[in-house]
Amino acid sequence: MLLGYLRRKVGLTGTKYGCGGGACGACTVMLSKYDPLLDSVLHYTVIACLQPICALHGTSVVTVEGIGSTKTKLHPVQERIAKAHGSQCGFCTPGMVMSMYTLLRNKPQPTMEDITEALAGNICRCTGYRPIIDGFKTFCDATDCCQTGDGEQKCCGSNGPSSTNGCKDMSEKLCDMENALPLDPTQDLIFPPELMLMGKSHESHRLYFKGERVKWISVEELDDLLELKAEHPDARLIVGNTTVGPKMVLKDAHHPLIIYAGGISELRTIRWTDQGVTVGAACTLSMLKETLEVAERRLGPERSRVTQALVTTLRCLASKQIRNMATIGGNILSANPKYDLNSILAAAGCTLQVISKDGTREIPLDENFFAGFGKTILKPNEVLQSVHIPLTGPWEFVCAFRQAQRREFAFSMVNAGMKVTLKEGTDGVESLRVFFGGVGPTLIQARHTCKELVGRPWREEQLEDALMLLREEIDLSQGAHGGREAYRETLALSFFFKFYMHVLQELREKDVCISDIPLDHLSALKSFSNEAPQGKHSYQLVAEAQSSKDPVGRPRMHQASYQQATGEAQYYDDIPPVRGELFVSMVTSTKAHAKILSIDASDALATPGVVTFICAADVPGQNRRLWFNNVEELFAEEEVVCVGQIIGAVVAETREQAKRAAGRVRLTYEDLLPVFFTIQEAIEHESFFNPKRKLERGDVDKAFEEVDCILEGEMYMGGQEHFYLETQGVIAVPRPEAGEMELFVASQHAAYTQEVVGTTLGIDANKITCHVKRLGGGFGGKVMKIASLSAIAATAAHKTGRAVRCVLDRSDDMLITSGRHPFLGKYKVGFMKDGTVLAVDMTYYSNGGCTLDESSFIMEKALLHMDNGYRIPHMRGRGLVCRTYLPSYTAFRGFGGPQGLTMIESVLQEVATHCGQPAERVRQLNMYRDEESLTHHGQLFCPSTMLRCWEECLDKAQYHTRRQAIQLFNAHNYWRKRGICAVPLKFGIGFSKGFYNQGAALVNIYKDGSVLVSHGGTEMGQGINTKAIQIASRILKVPMSLVHIKETCTGNVPNAAPSAASFGTDAVGMAVKDACETLMNRLEPVMQKHPNYSWPQLIVEAYCQKISLSATGFFMGAHTNVDWEKGEGNAYYYFTFGACCSEVEIDCLTGDHKNIRTDIVMDVGQSLNPALDIGQTEGGFVQGVGLYTIEELQFSPEGVLMTRGPSQYKVPALSDVPTQLNVHLLPDSHNPHAIYSSKGIGEPPVFFGCTLFFAIKEAIAAARRERGLSDRFPLSSPASAEKIRMACEDHFTKMAPSAQKGPRRPWKINV
Ligand SMILES: Cc1cc2nc3c(=O)[nH]c(=O)nc-3n(C[C@H](O)[C@H](O)[C@H](O)COP(=O)(O)OP(=O)(O)OC[C@H]3O[C@@H](n4cnc5c(N)ncnc54)[C@H](O)[C@@H]3O)c2cc1C
Ligand code: FES
Ligand code: FES
Repeated sequence: MLLGYLRRKVGLTGTKYGCGGGACGACTVMLSKYDPLLDSVLHYTVIACLQPICALHGTSVVTVEGIGSTKTKLHPVQERIAKAHGSQCGFCTPGMVMSMYTLLRNKPQPTMEDITEALAGNICRCTGYRPIIDGFKTFCDATDCCQTGDGEQKCCGSNGPSSTNGCKDMSEKLCDMENALPLDPTQDLIFPPELMLMGKSHESHRLYFKGERVKWISVEELDDLLELKAEHPDARLIVGNTTVGPKMVLKDAHHPLIIYAGGISELRTIRWTDQGVTVGAACTLSMLKETLEVAERRLGPERSRVTQALVTTLRCLASKQIRNMATIGGNILSANPKYDLNSILAAAGCTLQVISKDGTREIPLDENFFAGFGKTILKPNEVLQSVHIPLTGPWEFVCAFRQAQRREFAFSMVNAGMKVTLKEGTDGVESLRVFFGGVGPTLIQARHTCKELVGRPWREEQLEDALMLLREEIDLSQGAHGGREAYRETLALSFFFKFYMHVLQELREKDVCISDIPLDHLSALKSFSNEAPQGKHSYQLVAEAQSSKDPVGRPRMHQASYQQATGEAQYYDDIPPVRGELFVSMVTSTKAHAKILSIDASDALATPGVVTFICAADVPGQNRRLWFNNVEELFAEEEVVCVGQIIGAVVAETREQAKRAAGRVRLTYEDLLPVFFTIQEAIEHESFFNPKRKLERGDVDKAFEEVDCILEGEMYMGGQEHFYLETQGVIAVPRPEAGEMELFVASQHAAYTQEVVGTTLGIDANKITCHVKRLGGGFGGKVMKIASLSAIAATAAHKTGRAVRCVLDRSDDMLITSGRHPFLGKYKVGFMKDGTVLAVDMTYYSNGGCTLDESSFIMEKALLHMDNGYRIPHMRGRGLVCRTYLPSYTAFRGFGGPQGLTMIESVLQEVATHCGQPAERVRQLNMYRDEESLTHHGQLFCPSTMLRCWEECLDKAQYHTRRQAIQLFNAHNYWRKRGICAVPLKFGIGFSKGFYNQGAALVNIYKDGSVLVSHGGTEMGQGINTKAIQIASRILKVPMSLVHIKETCTGNVPNAAPSAASFGTDAVGMAVKDACETLMNRLEPVMQKHPNYSWPQLIVEAYCQKISLSATGFFMGAHTNVDWEKGEGNAYYYFTFGACCSEVEIDCLTGDHKNIRTDIVMDVGQSLNPALDIGQTEGGFVQGVGLYTIEELQFSPEGVLMTRGPSQYKVPALSDVPTQLNVHLLPDSHNPHAIYSSKGIGEPPVFFGCTLFFAIKEAIAAARRERGLSDRFPLSSPASAEKIRMACEDHFTKMAPSAQKGPRRPWKINV
């Protein structure tokens, strides 16, 4: 594929690997091609990971390196994303840049809609997207840049004034685009003239390419294709490669002969007639969409009902990049029921023109065309030539529906196409076609239902019959693939109801509707739109007295953002191959609990390119990773305890060879018992890790005797995958002397990696050097497992004597490294009638997986956060980490905090519901208020800033007014409901293991005056380097441009703590400050003596006076500790406070929801860099959006992780960010405990995602109340579309056949 070619053959590493399956956009590049049909050059984005190079003949490829560089000139797109703070870890940035660049090539003044469409296929895990949009919307036509540019909301292009609300010390300005480079299309790369000539030459010939395993033939004439197909009926025909490609890349599907038909113009023609349009099978979905959009306007609404339905579907089908590659023919012939087009094309009555050497035939597109999953009735020598799509008449009504895990860029769970033809001037049904995808292995037609309804009127009386008939035809089998049986059936029924309502509405407009539709039921017809997120920000300006040269407290750009935007920033896998370098690929267990009987690597070793196989026996030192007293094997030796456990590894010349050979290692096992995966099962087996923790204050049992009411309940929160865009990996380079080894590694904890590699190899740590340049996101996931992977790569390097690279592919990364712990909270709460909570007894269970890893510390953090901001006098919390047979769960941003906090919020929400009080009132009633408050673990703190955040948040969010508006909205919309929720936050910063609260740095000044800072933290997008440079710049009084940070290196700064616990900047910042102050003290006499010397002169003078220009800095934080015997102690250094309010709207018929608005007020003390702190707040919050509403890891009943890539596991995309996301940094807040009175911010905002969860719960409760159901109901996190729909119980949910069946073997389990 193009990606591997660019990165490894050409050495253009700006284009990134994020998933290999087309679902993240990190590898976006622009292709340009002369199109003879249009006689023009087309520029379009594609995803390089699925783009075959052989299909690029005559095409020019532009990568991020081609459009601008820091060495020559930046492209305005690169400059603006950087200036707008749209690049944090930077791993997604080149892909974003290329999507935007291509849009501008085609449309120099795009609309906001164009931008959201162009970026919908680019995933960013760090920023929360808003700053990216902010940067790019500056290219919009001024009249279009702002969607709400009136009154309160400022024009989006203005980026806020430099002071706000009449407060001259507040600012809304995060960046300055005034001097940004203008877009100058004349500077764009020209399309190579030789390719233009080639395109115009009209010469057509076959092209042959022959690789090691595959032969490729490109053809340009239809006859030639038919000839080849007759000769090689089994050859795989490909066009866009978006179905075939992922199977080749991700599942190693092998096609020895490939015929490429994308260049055949006869397959790409579009012909219009009075009856409809005939679309060539090789037309891309983008071409199709554009053509239909134009036609819609030309034909008018009645004739274009099919095209309208198709356009609606195409708008949210995959991404722009995929639509530019994927073809209509490929979509149909993939015969995948999750693909959206077949149901609508079939309902519309489309026909397929099929051609072979034997002639042509026309086949109706309906369920009979499909022979099963992935199979059609097409003969092997046949080719689909075109698809005929008919137009509609005035009495034909058509709709398409789809519901996916995420509204955009996700496969549908169920899709449907429906068409009814009514007798002219009446509501009598002449014909009806209803097709569903996603409720069976192939396309399903509700044939019987349709037949029965013919001749009947389109009225409410018939609706009930129709639904009864329909339910018989959509009965999903037991444990059907994809699970969610009852939901999918409900969706099918709900879609039909929507269609019924739609037609009724059309009939009303035609004055033939007899049925009266209650106005509030029209809400069934509304659909959500995807607007670009906008937001207001504010922060406190630095004091007027501060020198203008002092960068601290100012919104400075991420120090490497230009490099990140140009693709120059180097990540570990961008390092060019070391001479003789090998690649290692892991062999993992396929059993959850079994004895290993044999490992046979002979087939693997016989695979071309394989050098060796390694396992436990090859480890020269200890085959284990030690973390405190927790031991984890590197290679399983005798027994495996989860699917995905590493047993061995294959070392080969290339990554493809290593991967392929790893699949050929034969393992035999003997199954062992017990084997279980869920928290519930672990409780039954009493399978817990030690230590078990408990915290208690007051007299809980006695308090329960005194309260008015007691409630008991539980709440489950699912786990979360880190989904850092850069997968884990390392390059281990053995050095020839004394057993030295260097590792270039993506680690948040270089010192730990060094330690583990040392013990594995049996070599002293002083010979192991770890280098960390930057990480493409970490979020806690690159602390522990990367040490094991590094030790394995080092073992391979040690054994072979050659450098070894390990880059986990996305699937292995998700399988092996695991993520955030699922939690179950069981509670009993005692409260008074007004909502005052007097006692809470909570037991937390987390699923720790098969080893302890950091689980006990994570559980401690959950317990330590169980009070959040509430003064509940009697509290008891127990924490048990369950031992199960799943991959071991590990640290993830928040480290148990979000789970601990969410449980108490859930309790308060229930109390409010029970008391019939608004939840915000109950929260407020129970908050800490005393200046000197004590947490439940006895730590003294002052809650006043939390209360200020809360009040400001409610005020800025206009909470009370909007709550009333929501009530009104809900009263008028039966099928749509809104909810709002606000929560406060008290989040502990620092490590509760006190000795970790330390930081070290080394600052060198060179003779030219330049400064090199080294510190123990790792840059992973959070901006630790930028802040460290700001601090050094302040103390040394030199511009930031003179200070450089090259890398984190264990050779420069030893024994550093992990960059975690939101404490990185606190520790590193203090250490850098310390080192710089030492240097300044040394320089002081020279400065006194030479007050007029410039900085370089001063440094030369100091050097001549033999003053050391190198200093270490150290920060020894206060020793936090909790005495778990007594259940008390100062667990944290200090607390970061905040408050958040969110509003959502749900569709009760589909479970879809829209995040309407979020307001956050965050207390970061005196911000070191407001742009970075707001970026962390937004980014953390959007990760919380995923945690609480979308991201669902699915395990099979055998404990196999099934969601192993972004096609199955959905993290928030652009459309998931609240349309309005406002972040305000609380002014006048001080923090004596951290550098320059700032506060840590990395982890706290994740929890704010729970406001969406509880707002959704409120919205569901409103629906339930209206339907006469209880508003106390269980809802576990994430509040996925399935859970929302099924909680909005109604006629349809009850009718779903699966809802009425008894227990069954599930397709997936909640672990
Ligand atoms: C990340 C991602 C997200 C996606 N999201 C969606 C989505 O939301 N909704 C949706 O509907 N689809 C989605 N898709 C699927 C995508 O639409 C299809 O993969 C695409 O339409 C297939 O077209 P193609 O040209 O790439 O097919 P290819 O992969 O080239 O071929 C697919 C199959 O069709 C056969 N074929 C293709 N053309 C012909 C022909 N003319 N005659 C005979 N056989 C032919 C091939 O032999 C092959 O078996 C997604 C795909 C990806 C990778
Ligand atoms: S790496 Fe190509 S889309 Fe993810
Ligand atoms: S900046 Fe987008 S993934 Fe990190």
